Amino acid sequence: MRPVARSAIAAGLVLLVSQSGAAEEADQGAQLASTCASCHRLDGGGTIIPSIIGLGEERLTNALLAYRASQSPNHIMHAIALSLNDEEIASVARYVAAQGK
Ligand code: HEC
Repeated sequence: MRPVARSAIAAGLVLLVSQSGAAEEADQGAQLASTCASCHRLDGGGTIIPSIIGLGEERLTNALLAYRASQSPNHIMHAIALSLNDEEIASVARYVAAQGK
């Protein structure tokens, strides 16, 4: 095989792998967000429970970290945030932040 073809294939593989990584991450975010949707409406509509649409990725992440650390006292959100690791918080925050845009 010519070197050019070989490196083109290698580049294609790297692209494939990184794309499927991103897709997996989006899937995880969507899956996690569906658990939020049992309380928070993901269409931006408000109920008694505040909308989490339009908060932005950073505020969402910080809010979840604060709930997990009990810095923001709320039993429900503390329990939910406790069940999420850092990576899951990052992906659900990214997913939710991208909704309603
Ligand atoms: C069992 C119901 C329930 C579920 C499920 C739930 N939440 Fe909440 N969430 C609440 C309630 C109630 C509040 C209001 C808490 C307060 O007043 O401090 C809240 C508040 C929040 C806030 C703060 C909003 C603000 O304006 O400061 C964020 C961010 C949040 N939730 C994110 C999430 C995410 C992300 C998920 C999914 C991983 C989730 N919640 C799942 C009930 C829930």
